[in-house]
Amino acid sequence: MSALASRLAEAADLVTVALDELLPRADGPEARLTEAMRYAALGPGKRLRPFFAIETGKMFDLDDRPVLRAACALECIQAYSLIHDDLPCMDDDDMRRGRPTVHKAYDEMTAVLAGDALQTVAFEILAHPDTHADGAVRAQMVLRLAQASGARGMCGGQMIDMLGVRDDLGAVARMQRMKTGALIACAFELPLVMAHMDEDDREHHALMAFAQDLGLAYQIVDDLLDLEGDAAELGKKAGKDAAMGKANYVTLLGAEAARERLNLLKEQTKAHLDPFGPRAEFLRAAVDFVLERRN
Ligand code: IPE
Ligand code: IPE
Ligand code: MG
Ligand code: MG
Ligand code: MG
Repeated sequence: MSALASRLAEAADLVTVALDELLPRADGPEARLTEAMRYAALGPGKRLRPFFAIETGKMFDLDDRPVLRAACALECIQAYSLIHDDLPCMDDDDMRRGRPTVHKAYDEMTAVLAGDALQTVAFEILAHPDTHADGAVRAQMVLRLAQASGARGMCGGQMIDMLGVRDDLGAVARMQRMKTGALIACAFELPLVMAHMDEDDREHHALMAFAQDLGLAYQIVDDLLDLEGDAAELGKKAGKDAAMGKANYVTLLGAEAARERLNLLKEQTKAHLDPFGPRAEFLRAAVDFVLERRN
């Protein structure tokens, strides 16, 4: 196993264990809801957003435990966004992370509610005093995650995706920044807030620029995998974007041109990490991982 792979696996395990502790359990009839939340959030995701948060925390010498809570909050939003993304009224997918989607394993109303409750749990985790002793810092974290997830971030991007933008690469870039980029950027932002890092700081700028490019590359790879990937390896159905008439870099430009863009993005993305030197070793390696991933 490469050094990065073991670092990723270690972060993923920590997040799964912590999420298991943080997610609610219930004895009453609402147990159906808490079970569905656990089914989605504890399922075998790559946990890349948590990994980015944990790595950033390490770069700034933050305490592990609070950063892990922030990582869990990010993963709750990710799990919620996927549950809703898979619903029949959205992408109508039956498989996710190699297993039936939540509305297939349970039903639609449970899936809607599990997504809702995972979203609120994310903010409950951030707002809890265990996340940071300073209430002002916690409020900043809540604010950033809300902005990344809401109408100007993930939800807004999902709206544009569902409406379908046509023949306009600029609009596609904007959609991808909102739908995928915002939450990925937030994975870097939350630890920066915890580190009391000033937004004008050179390292803050560099990391945000890195996150922007990484988020774009992340979604282009997702769109390429939709075209070229294999459902068994992906853990979700392939070939859906073209069938549904989705507009993205791959459906608009074609796979070859999308791959060229990725090649250009690769070094550009890594270059943003130059100010960090060896401290960013694993984030640098993560760029290759993101670009070469098969699921
Ligand atoms: C899938 O995200 C949805 C996108 C934003 C591209 P991931 O590919 O990170 O999915 P998981 O969390 O590993 O399942
Ligand atoms: C979803 O994008 C992005 C989210 C915010 C959930 P996709 O619809 O392309 O993600 P997959 O391919 O279903 O994972
Ligand atoms: Mg979608
Ligand atoms: Mg989808
Ligand atoms: Mg996709």
